[in-house]
Amino acid sequence: MITIKSQREIELMRAAGKLAAECLRDMGKLVVEGNTPLQIDKACREWTAERGAIPAPLNYKGFPASLCVSANNVVCHGVPTNRPFKNGDIVNLDVTPILGGYHGDCNATFIVGDISDELRRFVSTAWESMWAGIKQVRPGNTVGDIGYAISNIVKARGYSVVLDYCGHGIGRVFHEDPAIVHMGKPKQGIVLKQGMTFTIEPMINIGGYKTRVDEKDGWTVYTDDGSLSAQFEHTVLVTADGVEVLTLGEHEKAPA
Ligand code: MF3
Ligand code: CO
Ligand code: CO
Repeated sequence: MITIKSQREIELMRAAGKLAAECLRDMGKLVVEGNTPLQIDKACREWTAERGAIPAPLNYKGFPASLCVSANNVVCHGVPTNRPFKNGDIVNLDVTPILGGYHGDCNATFIVGDISDELRRFVSTAWESMWAGIKQVRPGNTVGDIGYAISNIVKARGYSVVLDYCGHGIGRVFHEDPAIVHMGKPKQGIVLKQGMTFTIEPMINIGGYKTRVDEKDGWTVYTDDGSLSAQFEHTVLVTADGVEVLTLGEHEKAPA
């Protein structure tokens, strides 16, 4: 069932989204050589509690941490470890505070130290593809329009789009309808309506699109072929004539 948010709910989603953006910004500052994912988990837990919010990932279906930390060949749902970040890593942090009963969900891929221009282009493609998807959001357009815009860019650059995980409706519930698949055909699928809130969060791989889940922790998702993976995520609202990005931080400028 797809929920249409009331004006009051939209206000609460705005507040949760703003908090998520601030959390991601502050946690991102900790992605430096020598720091560990578990340090960021602790920081995120405290940061969120200090602001009267709850980290949705913690204990969600048994997930053991307050955020996901997905480095290099980890696609998503990375369980924080005590392995320090090293120069050249690409590290995705995915945060989801619950504030006033509503979720704000966003993620970004951070770079540790120096990386090649080639790798920079890859990470940038993940970000650009997310924005291409966001730009399709308006009443009357479809979920297929979003997926088509995303996969077009990713394929044109020679990378692959992960299909095993997708964006999702969001509100009082962390993952609700509709599913936002990051591939699709124009004019197909669910039609977007004013008041819907959902995430757009393409995961892209340098190699193949296939993934596998860590057998030990049951959560961490890897690329099947060991290639690198990158992702960006925003929570968006369908407005009367377009889109409002609820998790847009002051530090991020939408591309023209
Ligand atoms: N934040 C992730 C998403 O974008 C979901 C994480 S679920 C968890 O949907 F349990 F792994 F935290
Ligand atoms: Co999400
Ligand atoms: Co997320």
